[in-house]
Amino acid sequence: MTMAMRARSCIVTGGGSGIGRAIVQLLSSVGFDCLVVGRREQPLIDTASLCESSSGSVVPLVADVSSHDEVSGVIANAMDRYGRLDGIVNNAAGGGLMPFPSWTMGQLTDLWKTNVLGPAALVLEAWPHLLESGGRIVNISSMAVLGPFPGNGAYGMTKAALDGMTRAIDVDAAGSGVEAYSIAPGAVETEMLRSLVDDSQLPPAKAMDPSEIAQLTRACLEGERSGDAGKVLYAAIPGFVTTDPEEAMVALGRFHGS
Ligand SMILES: NC(=O)c1ccc[n+]([C@@H]2O[C@H](COP(=O)([O-])OP(=O)(O)OC[C@H]3O[C@@H](n4cnc5c(N)ncnc54)[C@H](OP(=O)(O)O)[C@@H]3O)[C@@H](O)[C@H]2O)c1
Repeated sequence: MTMAMRARSCIVTGGGSGIGRAIVQLLSSVGFDCLVVGRREQPLIDTASLCESSSGSVVPLVADVSSHDEVSGVIANAMDRYGRLDGIVNNAAGGGLMPFPSWTMGQLTDLWKTNVLGPAALVLEAWPHLLESGGRIVNISSMAVLGPFPGNGAYGMTKAALDGMTRAIDVDAAGSGVEAYSIAPGAVETEMLRSLVDDSQLPPAKAMDPSEIAQLTRACLEGERSGDAGKVLYAAIPGFVTTDPEEAMVALGRFHGS
């Protein structure tokens, strides 16, 4: 049986909206069975409805990735349901503008639990199953690591840690058959983006469509980017991907006119 014909399953966190929803739509359309995780049930159900005619199944699962117990339940659910796990897409994240030094330890703790510790817990719980399948991990990072806009640096800090996890897996689990990637988008047209900047600050023409990030995620999961395993793929602006951070920043600056 070829890779394309084999049943494949994955977990996509934050799949009820934005980039996560686009990822689920694309992955299910190419045959992945997707367990879609988020805290609100209705957006997950809506994502599943949009994928009804897909060849892969889409199952909503309400869970909070910042809770270790709930993360254990997500992996158990996936294994009971599919009997194997080929991919994890750590896409769920919290954000919000928090200009330094107005940070509170409570805000930072919440952000780290969702954006860093949650993804780490998912990967650790899933590890034996990923080893068995030669699975792939995609961590959705952000260009805010390299070039945060004002107030976005605390969020960027958490995404830098997520990139650190991608590299740690690559170094410590070299030869395991499991691959990890970070994808760091620039501005993508989603609820999260519009909670931070309005159309006058960032015109819609300057934001990427979520489907671009979905395509890159699919390429990582399907082994088309194996040469970039362990790296950060900077999808800084529409139609552009590089693993070179300087090149990413130059492209971003040119595109946004600074
Ligand atoms: N949009 C951009 O410009 C941009 C740029 C760079 C990187 N990113 C990254 O792209 C990813 C997707 O963001 P987006 O723009 O698509 O934003 P979004 O539409 O707000 O999606 C975030 C999703 O994460 C879920 N989520 C948040 N906290 C969660 C938790 N504790 N447990 C489970 N699910 C949780 C949310 O659902 P519930 O609220 O129902 O849980 C929501 O569906 C994030 O990692 C973000 O950092 C976005």
